[in-house]
Amino acid sequence: MDWGMSNRMSRMIKSDGKTVMLACDHGYFMGPTRKLEVPRRTIEPLVPYADTIAVTRGVLRTSIDPKWDVPILLRVSGGVSILKEDLSDEEITASVKDAVRLNVSAVALSIFVGTAHEKQTLVNLSKLVDEGEEYGMPVMAITAVGKELEKRDARYLSLASRIAAEIGAHIVKTYYCENFHKVAEGTPVPVVVAGGPKMNTDEDVLNLVYNAMQEGAIGVDMGRNIWQSDYPVAMIKAIRAIVHENATVKEALDVLRENKSVAQLSAASKN
Ligand code: 5RP
Repeated sequence: MDWGMSNRMSRMIKSDGKTVMLACDHGYFMGPTRKLEVPRRTIEPLVPYADTIAVTRGVLRTSIDPKWDVPILLRVSGGVSILKEDLSDEEITASVKDAVRLNVSAVALSIFVGTAHEKQTLVNLSKLVDEGEEYGMPVMAITAVGKELEKRDARYLSLASRIAAEIGAHIVKTYYCENFHKVAEGTPVPVVVAGGPKMNTDEDVLNLVYNAMQEGAIGVDMGRNIWQSDYPVAMIKAIRAIVHENATVKEALDVLRENKSVAQLSAASKN
């Protein structure tokens, strides 16, 4: 790997080989998603605990302070909205040249394997990798499922993740699923997991992170289960404990509880 590419990767993936990425790019097709209505308000308190922040260039330019020392993963695919039944009709929406201008650490685009736009999104990936290689810009492929959340099984996610790696993605974001180890083993580049829609309990979130790490993920690129939590800072700290400190779910729940108490006390002292 060339120096620039390697340097960018190592800004996002820490020296222990792991990463906690904070996904805040939902607006590109979902609009003002709950609790991400004002991006800066959601993102700023979480910056000290995020190894990378995933956003679009619009949110980057308007809502991220250029002085914040945090690597950026730039979402560069889109072209559809949540109002459409088929979310797979994506194109590349920002150039690698703009990504370089923005000094980001990687670009990310979705692929939709098995959909009407499978070929289009895979060719998008190949073009982005070609351009990324030219500029030393890592490319993350996201194995998107659109509205078909039931697609998230090991057979489908292994297929989509492997195809992404074969086309040249430098990192793959996929979902956790039963037998996730098969997805990780069959994907010869680092794999991170998304969280998906908000889960019922904090323990469910931490179990997902713990199991994904045990089965071969190098970390998470998680959004709603962090910033839709009532205690986002406590939640991201608990996730960090699992990813970077090998904490068990029980230990991470303790981190969560302690940090919730701190947040409650600080809120009470302001009232
Ligand atoms: C939005 C995305 C998100 O970055 C991804 O789904 C991770 O966020 P969440 O944990 O909320 O699912 O790709 O399209």
